[in-house]
Amino acid sequence: MAKSVFYVCPICGNVIRTTGEAVISCCGVTLPPVEPEPPDPEHRIRVEITEDEYYVTLAHPMRRDHFISFLAAVSDRGVQFVKLYPEENAQARFRIDRVQRLCAYCNRHGLFEVSPANA
Ligand SMILES: [Fe+2]
Repeated sequence: MAKSVFYVCPICGNVIRTTGEAVISCCGVTLPPVEPEPPDPEHRIRVEITEDEYYVTLAHPMRRDHFISFLAAVSDRGVQFVKLYPEENAQARFRIDRVQRLCAYCNRHGLFEVSPANA
């Protein structure tokens, strides 16, 4: 599960997550796996630890044409996934439970991720 790979359809916004690489197509387009990058200042993933949760926020536009479309917490057991929409705040809460990667996907700039230990 920690090898979770995300695929995002550029046409309809569908998000597909696999536990390894696969050939995925949506809307007639073959989707490349989304390669995560370390966050740049515009996509800094802020992580606060509460009792048993990571509270994840980004100071990022949430406009219809440019927004964080999902946040995810990946562990070796599974993925906690929160879909976001324009005009909302870019935030989510995840159980700390074995999380190894915290991910944020910007519809224009792609996937960013941090290890909670380094956040
Ligand atoms: Fe962005």
